[in-house]
Amino acid sequence: MRLAVIEGDGIGREVIPAAVEVLDAFGLELEKVPLELGYARWERTGTAMSGEDIETIKGCDAVLFGAITTVPDPNYKSVLLTIRKELDLYANVRPVKPLPGIKGVTGKNNFDFIIVRENTEGLYSGIEEIGNDLSWTKRVVTRKGSERIAEYACKLAKQRNNKLTIVHKSNVLKSDKLFLDVCRQVASSHGVEYSDMLVDSMAYSLMMRPEKYDVVVTTNIFGDILSDMCAALVGSLGLVPSANIGEKYAFFEPVHGSAPDIAGKGISNPLAAILCVKMLLEWMGNPGASIIDEAVADLLQNKIITPDLGGTSTTAEVGHEVAEYVKNALK
Ligand code: IPM
Ligand code: MG
Repeated sequence: MRLAVIEGDGIGREVIPAAVEVLDAFGLELEKVPLELGYARWERTGTAMSGEDIETIKGCDAVLFGAITTVPDPNYKSVLLTIRKELDLYANVRPVKPLPGIKGVTGKNNFDFIIVRENTEGLYSGIEEIGNDLSWTKRVVTRKGSERIAEYACKLAKQRNNKLTIVHKSNVLKSDKLFLDVCRQVASSHGVEYSDMLVDSMAYSLMMRPEKYDVVVTTNIFGDILSDMCAALVGSLGLVPSANIGEKYAFFEPVHGSAPDIAGKGISNPLAAILCVKMLLEWMGNPGASIIDEAVADLLQNKIITPDLGGTSTTAEVGHEVAEYVKNALK
C-alpha cells in the first residue's frame, strides 16, 4: 500500500504531521510518498501541481491531504478539484457525529449521520464562461453520476439504520429532478427506506432535528454547504473529517481549510486530520480504526485539547498523545 501525503499550506503543515504520527503508531506496512503541492509550491516554482505529480499520485493507492490555500491567479485550477477529477473520486463522505463531552451550537449531541456528497458533477462541472456582463456555470446532473452516488449512499445506509434522505432543489432546478428520481429508484431497489427534502428546508431541519437523519445524499454544491454548516453541530470545523472515495482510489481530508490566520502557531486542532486517519484505516479494512475513537474520547476527557476547544495543548501534543494511546492499545 502506497499513501501520498500532501500537507499543503497553512495549518495543513501542522495537522498532517500530527495525523501521520498517529498513523505511524499502527506500525503498518505502508509506503508514504510526500508531495509538496499548493500555494507555497506555486510561489516557489510558479506551479501548484504538475502533470508529473498527478502521475505520482496515481501510482499510490490513497492520499492523506491537509489543505491548500487558493492561488491568486485567475487561471489557477484548484489542486483539490483536479485530484478529485483525475482519480474519479465520486463520493465525498462526511460523517457528522458528536465527540464525547463537546457540544456544538445547538447544544445537541444525540445525532449521528453521514453526508454523502456527489463529488464529480453538478455545479462543479468546470464548464463555465466568465465575462464582464455575463458569467455562467453549467450545472450537470447525469444518470450515471446520480446512480453511482445513490448506490454508495444506499450501501452505507444498509450498514447503518437503513434510512436515506435525498436532498435536492427540484422545485427550481429541473436538473435535480433526475437526481431525485434516480436516487428514489436506487433506494427502492435496495429496500432502503427513503424520503426527500428540499435543500433549504433541510438546512433548517438539520439544525432543529439532526437526530432524525442517518444517510443524507445530495448534489455537489449542496453537500459542500451543508457539511460546513453541520460542522457547527459538532462544535468546530476542526473536528470533522472527510473521505473522497472512487472505484480505485481514496483521498482523506479534513473539512477545514488552510486557515492562514492561525497557521504557524501550533494551535490548530489536529482532530479532524486524525479522524481522517481513522477513515483511512476503515477504508483499508483495518480493525484497529476504532482505537482512534477511544483515544480521542480519552484526550477530550483529560482536557488534552487545543485552544479552540478551551485547552492549552499544541497541535503536536495532541497528535503525540493520540499516537501514544494507540501504541499502548496495540501492545
Ligand atoms: C471542500 C472545499 C472544496 C470544495 C474547495 C476548497 C474547492 O470547500 O472540500 O468542501 O468546494 O469542495
Ligand atoms: Mg467545503
